[in-house]
Order: sequence, then structure tokens, then C-alpha cells
Amino acid sequence: MKILLLGSGGREHALAWKIAQSERVEKLFIAPGNAGTSNCGENVNIKADDFESIKQFVVEKGINMVVVGPEDPLVKGIYDNLKQDERTKNIPVIGPSKAGAVLEGSKDFAKGFMQRHHIPTARYETFDGEHLEDGLKFLETLEAPYVLKADGLCAGKGVLILPTLEEAKKELKDMLGGMFGNASSRVVIEEFLSGIECSVFVLTDGDHYKILPEAKDYKRIGEGDTGLNTGGMGSVSPVPFATKEWMQKVEDRIIRPTVEGLKAENIDYKGFIFFGLINVKGEPMVIEYNCRMGDPETESVMLRLKSDIVDLFEGVAEGNLEQRQIEFDERAAVCVMLVSGGYPEAYKKGYPITGIENVEGSIVFHAGTTMKDGQVVTNGGRVIAVSSYGKDKAEALKKSFTEAQKIQFTDQYFRRDIGKDL
Ligand code: AMP
Ligand code: GLY
Repeated sequence: MKILLLGSGGREHALAWKIAQSERVEKLFIAPGNAGTSNCGENVNIKADDFESIKQFVVEKGINMVVVGPEDPLVKGIYDNLKQDERTKNIPVIGPSKAGAVLEGSKDFAKGFMQRHHIPTARYETFDGEHLEDGLKFLETLEAPYVLKADGLCAGKGVLILPTLEEAKKELKDMLGGMFGNASSRVVIEEFLSGIECSVFVLTDGDHYKILPEAKDYKRIGEGDTGLNTGGMGSVSPVPFATKEWMQKVEDRIIRPTVEGLKAENIDYKGFIFFGLINVKGEPMVIEYNCRMGDPETESVMLRLKSDIVDLFEGVAEGNLEQRQIEFDERAAVCVMLVSGGYPEAYKKGYPITGIENVEGSIVFHAGTTMKDGQVVTNGGRVIAVSSYGKDKAEALKKSFTEAQKIQFTDQYFRRDIGKDL
């Protein structure tokens, strides 16, 4: 079978690595990919949201399945776009319809959905610019700290957590005044939840689901979870508090009601659901939904998935996922992200990356890299993920930290405390 994978980050390299291991794959294309994905298949110079070129390519190459990595093309409707075209309507897409991607594309929709299906989440209300006064009053009913969320997609920057009522009121005014453009024309205000976060992933065919290994990611740039938020600085799997009992609560209270809720609302959803959870005194609650895999969680989760991912994808496409086997590797897996100096603020690109060939026993996933004059160079904030197995988390982390030091580029930085809080 010929597969086209869309996206260009570390998540896509990890997916490409896993897909390429399947005996069912005759050819894998990645659009646009990065310097690393070209080791797993053939990169194609098409942007993940250039739907016309994607369709053209699917037809020309006789692609049998399209796997979507990032949220952007899903929220823009890649699934529907392929389904509505005579030439591509029968090609399975791993990723939800536009209506399903709204779970990530609109925080207000996601909160309403959870309320309708009695899924545990923080108490909230949503306000638009015409109801600023009501929003300010609602803030007064909450306790510090205050959580403000832009309704729409903001590349991970749309959530503000404010320590005082005064700051929360000011930020609410700014957000509704266009701080994140149209994305913050509506703002969700919610209760602050205190606990440790955990990312849980499922693959669903719309009726059935398979739960993948869970992971924890590290969002802040600085050690000890300090400084600005990033796309993610590392991840570990498994997560110690995600015990069998806890995961049973997650399945009963969150996963099943979500999949059944999507079906009850006639939302076409065949793909990954990412549950951003928080453990509040032993009880799982939902912080957010995403309509894709997590990055950098994928860079550890794929190591722990023993089964053939293409077999699972076929189960999704054929609507018989319940007949497929899913097996996990019992070992721990972690990923440590090497980033450009300055990230998540301004940083430079184009620095040569050396030493990748010296890495032994770890798996190197490229995130922001490209080829320039035959040399791999930096091309993003998050540059390379170093993923490792270990008999436990400590062993896997030691491996990744050791191997990460072999990879060099100007102003390279990584957090040396990934996994240490657990
Ligand atoms: P989100 O984009 O919704 O995942 O929010 C980004 C981050 O903000 C989350 O990963 C949490 O760390 C934090 N956050 C969001 N909502 C809450 C909440 N209600 N209580 C505490 N932290 C939150
Ligand atoms: N690691 C969090 C995310 O992918 O959104």
C-alpha cells in the first residue's frame, strides 16, 4: 500500500519511522517532511494545507491512505475536502472531519461537548466582546489563579494563567479586544485545576477505539518547569500515576463518553483523539482535546507501540478496529528535545548540525531540520528529539541525555531534568 503522511515535525518523523516498519507499506511519502523523514520514505515538496496539490499528488501516485499529522489541515477540513472530490472520495484519511477537529479548533465547542456528555472538566463560561462586563463579573466568582483561553487555534499560545484578579480582568479585555486576532474574539474563562498532567491517546474508527500508551510532556523552556511555554521539551512514557485503576476511570468517564458522544452528535471521526488530562486528587479531568497525536509525546509513544500501526490504521479505515490487536512494549521510553537558543522567542535558523551519526542506541527524530548543500541544518525552534528505551524511565533518560550531548549545533539547548519530577 502507498501512504501519504502530512506534516514536517518530530511527531511526523516518529510516525514515519513507525509506518515504515510495516510490511504492508510499499511506499511512504511525507509532505513536506524534514531532513529526517527522508530516511523513512520520500519527501514531497507540498505544504500540509495545500489541499489542491495534495489531491493531485494522491491521484497521480495512486495513494491508498492519507495520514494527517498536525491539527492545522484537519481544522481547515482536509478530510472533507478529499471526501468531496470524486477522484479521492474513497481514499481513507486518518484524521477527523472538520466537524470533529472542532474539538481542538474551538475551546468553547470542546467545553460544551464535555458538558453535554458529562465528561469531567473545569467549570467554565464563554464570553464575546459584547459581553465583556459579564466576563469580568464571572471572574469575580472564581478564585485565583485565573485561566483564560482564546476560543480558536493559537499555536499553543492562547491560554493565559493569571495570578491576580486585576491581571485577569486586564487580559480578558485585551483578548476580547483582538490580542490573538479572530481566535480570541471569544474567550473561555475556567476554574483553575491543580494536579499533574498526562496525555492519553486513542485511535478510533468512530465506533471502537484502541488506547495507546500514555505520556507526560514537559512544556516549559526552563528546568524545574520555569519560564515560557514551548511546544514541548521532552516526554516520558509510561506515567507512574496512570495506573490500571486510574486508566479505567479515564476510559469509563472520559474516553468512552467522548467516542459515544461524537457518534451521538453525528460527527465523522476516524483518527487520533488526544486527551490532555490532569490528575486532580486521583480523579482524571480533561484540560483539552486535540484532534491529532501530541508532539513530543509521539516521539516516546511510538517506541512503546509494538503492534503494526498500519494494521491499526486499516482497522480505522475499514471500521473494524475492534478486531485488531494492540500491544505495548513493556520498556519505558522517553524523548529529550534539542532546541535552538532563544526558543520559544526569537532564534536563528540554518546552523549546521553535527554528530547525529555518533548516536548509538537512541533514536533520533528530526523536528525542525532541513538539508542545505548536502548538510543537515537547523530549521525551527525544536530541532531534534533524542528518544530512548530503558528498563525504566531513569535508564531511558540517562541514555537520551548522554546521546543528546553528541549532537551539536550553535546555541543548542535541552532540559536536563525531563522526567525527574515523576
Ligand atoms: P491547553 O492549550 O488548553 O492545553 O492549555 C495549555 C496549558 O495550560 C495546559 O497544558 C495546562 O498546563 C494549563 N491549563 C489549561 N487549563 C487549565 C486549568 N483549567 N487549570 C490549570 N491549568 C490549566
Ligand atoms: N505536547 C502537546 C501538544 O502536542 O499539544
